[in-house]
Amino acid sequence: MGANSVSSSEPETLYIQHFNEESRPLAFYLQKMGGYAAAKKAFAMTPDSIIEEVKKANLRGRGGAGFPTGMKWSFIPKQSPKPKYLVCNADESEPGTFKDRDIMRYTPHVLIEGMIIGAYAFGANNGYIYIRGEYVREAKLLNEAIDEAYKAGYLGKNILGSGFNFDLTVHRGAGAYICGEETGLLNSLEGKRGEPRVKPPFPAISGAFGGPTAVNNVETLAAVPHIINRGGEWFSKLGKIEKSGGTRLFCVSGHVKKPGLYEFNAGSVTLRELIYDHCHGILGDKKLKAVIPGGSSAPVLTADEIDVVLDIEPLMKIGSMLGSCGIMVVSEDTCVVQLLARITKFYAHESCGQCTPCREGCKWMEDVIERIEHGHGREQDLALLLDIADNINGKTLCALGDAAAGPVMSFVKKFRADFEAHIRGGKCPNA
Ligand SMILES: Cc1cc2nc3c(=O)[nH]c(=O)nc-3n(C[C@H](O)[C@H](O)[C@H](O)COP(=O)(O)O)c2cc1C
Repeated sequence: MGANSVSSSEPETLYIQHFNEESRPLAFYLQKMGGYAAAKKAFAMTPDSIIEEVKKANLRGRGGAGFPTGMKWSFIPKQSPKPKYLVCNADESEPGTFKDRDIMRYTPHVLIEGMIIGAYAFGANNGYIYIRGEYVREAKLLNEAIDEAYKAGYLGKNILGSGFNFDLTVHRGAGAYICGEETGLLNSLEGKRGEPRVKPPFPAISGAFGGPTAVNNVETLAAVPHIINRGGEWFSKLGKIEKSGGTRLFCVSGHVKKPGLYEFNAGSVTLRELIYDHCHGILGDKKLKAVIPGGSSAPVLTADEIDVVLDIEPLMKIGSMLGSCGIMVVSEDTCVVQLLARITKFYAHESCGQCTPCREGCKWMEDVIERIEHGHGREQDLALLLDIADNINGKTLCALGDAAAGPVMSFVKKFRADFEAHIRGGKCPNA
């Protein structure tokens, strides 16, 4: 699926305008997109000045946590007895998220160039793209693009005569959500079980194969050539909100008339504008019931909360999160109890089982919500659910626990009447 629509206060988009089949080959990238000019420019800069430019750009990680990319790279020690690595997180496992897929499918060379520049900036000579197993076609397309780049001298030894060497390898996952968590990913990359590591040490100190490592999302790395070509300040100013530079890709799914991928300058659009002006409103002109704004782990919003600007801080302020920008829109016909049951089943299934609150708690939440959904709920079940969620939230080895607990707490808080109706009526009132 290509881009459905683009609308922005700026005339130009960074990603979506090139989301079509003809953009993929190296020849197009070189001739029509100014390809690999940023890498050439970067090799004429000092590594530190590249990191400074990325800091100036206010590029924040697009994988979910929004950590500033320049700062992440500056944590990598300059001197290291062990090799350093740049790892691209292409697991795209958060339900409702489908932006990285199109970057890899249509503009793989932007990602490759972003990785060359990032690796040069902190001194990594090896990079990996860890891609979700289900993206069979994208893995093949990436490998083809990498072959093209090697043949043209953009990868390998002494790239463009710079003296810098960089090898890039695609590594396919096997379909586990937890391998999107950066240290679960690194274990999986090393051939171990995809179980998150205890932190510290953070990957910047001990990451892939024990070497200093930066893990960055696909969209994050694909922003880097633009920053080097046009400057950190230019990129920063694309953002309409303090601390957030560039544009953001929003993956809109669910009950809207025009679902798809949208790109806007960071902080330039509200959730209401996105749903009603750009996605043409709710299917069948029904009423809006709920929105999950940042992938399934983001706490749910009600129809009264959609005047929020779609960016990191505004969503945090109202108790939710921008996460991976996977926006799931839910109309009045939907049973929110059934929806939460489905979400919770996912997290219970995907828990790696390493730590007790997540392994036991997610399964308990799944069982309790299922019994409410099937009409066997008890009056005390809502308090029980909140208690289990509280025993998971912030108490697990990685953020999968928070991802599972957040939806439960927010759905029960905001749609309590729906849960109570199921318990009292012994069935779904809409059934
Ligand atoms: C359970 C879980 C799943 C995650 N899945 C992904 C994912 O599929 N893709 C991704 O880029 N980040 C994912 N993340 C976030 C990564 O751990 C990490 O923060 C990110 O790759 C850093 O890149 P960034 O700084 O460019 O955002 C996940 C985190 C958790 C806790």
